[in-house]
Amino acid sequence: MTAASEWERLTKQLPSWLEESRRESHKGRPATYIPELAHAPADALGITIMSTEGQSLTLGDCGLSFTMQSISKVFTLILALMDHGEEGVFRKVGMEPTGDDFNSMLKLELVEPGIPFNPLINAGAIAISSLIRGGSPAAKAERILAFFRELADAPSLKWNEAVYRSESATAHRNRSLAYFLKDNRVLEEQDDVEEVLDVYFKHCSVEITCRQLARMALVLALNGKDPQSGRELIPRRYVQIAKTFMVSCGMYNASGEFAIRAGLPAKSGVAGGILALVPGRYGIGVVGPALNDKGNSVAGVHLLETLSGEFDWSLF
Ligand code: DON
Repeated sequence: MTAASEWERLTKQLPSWLEESRRESHKGRPATYIPELAHAPADALGITIMSTEGQSLTLGDCGLSFTMQSISKVFTLILALMDHGEEGVFRKVGMEPTGDDFNSMLKLELVEPGIPFNPLINAGAIAISSLIRGGSPAAKAERILAFFRELADAPSLKWNEAVYRSESATAHRNRSLAYFLKDNRVLEEQDDVEEVLDVYFKHCSVEITCRQLARMALVLALNGKDPQSGRELIPRRYVQIAKTFMVSCGMYNASGEFAIRAGLPAKSGVAGGILALVPGRYGIGVVGPALNDKGNSVAGVHLLETLSGEFDWSLF
C-alpha cells in the first residue's frame, strides 16, 4: 500500500475504529491512587496521528487535556542522556525490564548493586530526575518544561498545579523509593531527596493534549529532528535508546504483550495517555483514561493494536 492510499484508508476508517475501541472502556477505570486523576471521564477516547510528510488527523475526545505521568519519563531520560551521556546515566539505572509493578521496591533490595532496573519504573525515573542539570529544583523543572515545550511545539505547556499537589501529598511509596535510593547511594550526597522528588512530581504533572503528545512522538519518529526545520533536537543515538526502552518497558508489565500485538515503541501513563510511533512514518498521541489491570489505557491499547494490525505497522 502506498503512503497516500494508507492515509486515505486511515482517514476513512479511523472514526469507526475509534468508536469500536471506545466500547472497550468499560473494562477499565481511571486511576484513583492519585486522587486528582479519579475525576477523568472514563469513556473518553481521542487520538492524533501526525505523519512525517506533514499530514495530521485528530479524532474523538482530543479536547481533553491530561497529565503526562510516566510518558514524561521517556523525555527526562533523553534530557539526562543529553546532560551526562550514556556512561553517566547507566551508572544510575539499568537497561532491563523488571516484571514487577512500576512502583515496586522489591528488586532494589534483592539485586545488587541496588540501582533501579530501568529508567521508566518510578525508582529509575526518580534517579533520572536527580541527573537533570540546573541550579535549583525550580530551575531543573523549568528546564524540563522548556524541553517538553520545544518537542511538543507548545510554548504554553505547564504542569497542572492540582495534580502536582495531589501527587506530592499522597506519594508515600515514591518517597520510600527515593529514600531507599539515597541509602543505596544512587541519590548522592548533594541530592536532597525531597528536592529530587519535587522535580519528579512536576514532570509527571505536565498537562498535555493528544496533539501535543503526537508532536513529541513525531520528533522521535524523525530520529530527533524538528519536523518543521529539520534541526536536530535530540541526538539520534538517544532516540534509539529511548525507543528501545519503550519497546521493552514502555507499557509496564504488558510490554511483551504489546510488542507482540502492536510491535511499536510506546509509553503509557496513569492518566490514560499513550505516546506511540511508527519510526520514520507517524507520531501518535492517544488518551483514554480508563485503565486495565496493568495500568494501560484499555481503549487506547485496543485502538493502537487495531491500527497496527490493519496497516502491518509492527517493527518485528
Ligand atoms: O509516580 C507515579 O506513580 C506517577 N507520577 C506516574 C505513574 C505512571 O504513570 C506509571 N509509571 N510507570
